[in-house]
Amino acid sequence: MTKPKDAPVEVPPASRGSTKKTSRRRGLEFPSARQVVVRDVGYPFRLRGDPKQMGLEVDNEDLFADYAREQWMGSVVRPGLYLFDRYIIPDFAFQVVDAEPQESIITKATRIILASPLEAGAANIPSKIALEDVVGHESVKKKCRLVLEYLAEPSKFGEWAPRAILFHGPPGTGKTLTAQAVASEANAQIFLAKASDLIGVHVGDGGRRINALFENARLRAPSIVFIDELDAIGLARSFQSIRGDVSEVVTSLLGELDRTSEESGVVVVGATNALALIDPAIRNRFDSVFEFGLPSIEERLGILEMYSRRLPIPIEADLKSIAAITEGFSGRDLRDRVLKESLHEAICSGESLITEDTVRRVLASIKTPRRPEYSI
Ligand SMILES: Nc1ncnc2c1ncn2[C@@H]1O[C@H](COP(=O)(O)OP(=O)(O)OP(=O)(O)O)[C@@H](O)[C@H]1O
Ligand SMILES: [Mg+2]
Repeated sequence: MTKPKDAPVEVPPASRGSTKKTSRRRGLEFPSARQVVVRDVGYPFRLRGDPKQMGLEVDNEDLFADYAREQWMGSVVRPGLYLFDRYIIPDFAFQVVDAEPQESIITKATRIILASPLEAGAANIPSKIALEDVVGHESVKKKCRLVLEYLAEPSKFGEWAPRAILFHGPPGTGKTLTAQAVASEANAQIFLAKASDLIGVHVGDGGRRINALFENARLRAPSIVFIDELDAIGLARSFQSIRGDVSEVVTSLLGELDRTSEESGVVVVGATNALALIDPAIRNRFDSVFEFGLPSIEERLGILEMYSRRLPIPIEADLKSIAAITEGFSGRDLRDRVLKESLHEAICSGESLITEDTVRRVLASIKTPRRPEYSI
């Protein structure tokens, strides 16, 4: 007897994905899973001294989906549960990352996907950053709010959807912070990738990783792909002779940016502090380019005030005058080199508050903020 798609199937209250037939008991009803995303975890243990296991690689996603579905048919899945391989690598564990519906059963209609290692990183987005926490950069935040609106209702925008946004500017000016704020405010999946994750060890790895990243993002749309340190993978062709491995990555990235069409529901955010190093073909595919400049005096004051409120001990210093004498400092400089250092100084000297004196002393010890220059 065949059951219609999505029809509830009777299964037992399962533990650890219950791949064993013996645990099948009648009683509870679960809907059929449309899609299940698993990540490779490895064996439950290894002998001390044995090397750690490497991750799995899937070359043919359809084949994997069929193989996985056949052996786990009838298993109940929900995020967090483990499923064990029975044939190729017996007892190798997979963990359910996502299931649609959240608690469902694997049937003939289920598509099973192996999450790329990049997606595991995507889960680590700080959850409480809001766009409000980014001081200044008003036009960028405005655009980000539009992206949030788009992600909430992609159909509203049609062919006029925002597709790719590029952030550039000196280090420590809030590019990553802004992207994380969008990620944590959005009710959408975010795929975070650092250039170093995307360049593989073997030839062809980089291209494959880019393709997998975008493929996953399209499957999970509406979603955001955030590529930090874009310069390392979107390197201009003139530099690719130095980094031969990068050219295949650039080619893949170009292809994927083109495939991210209006209907895909995927927004790409790229960040770099070396715009000049980026391949012009890649740069052109970003429809909005935003410069993150160093903060103005008012913005420096705003940043100092915001982080002062979060300090574990009170600060009794005239923040206005500190803002006035810190021209050229980035937000990161103000937080990490001025406030954090002052806090550490105060704690080391056993003081219960941060005085103006301490801050001035710290400032005097900082000659000029590091500011790498990029030019070609
Ligand atoms: N405009 C800002 N508002 C609030 N905090 C800021 C701002 N700019 C920088 N910061 C602080 O500095 C930290 C570092 O900023 P961030 O990592 O976003 O810099 P970035 O522009 O991505 O730098 P890089 O180019 O080095 O990657 C942030 O986590 C935040 O604490
Ligand atoms: Mg950054």
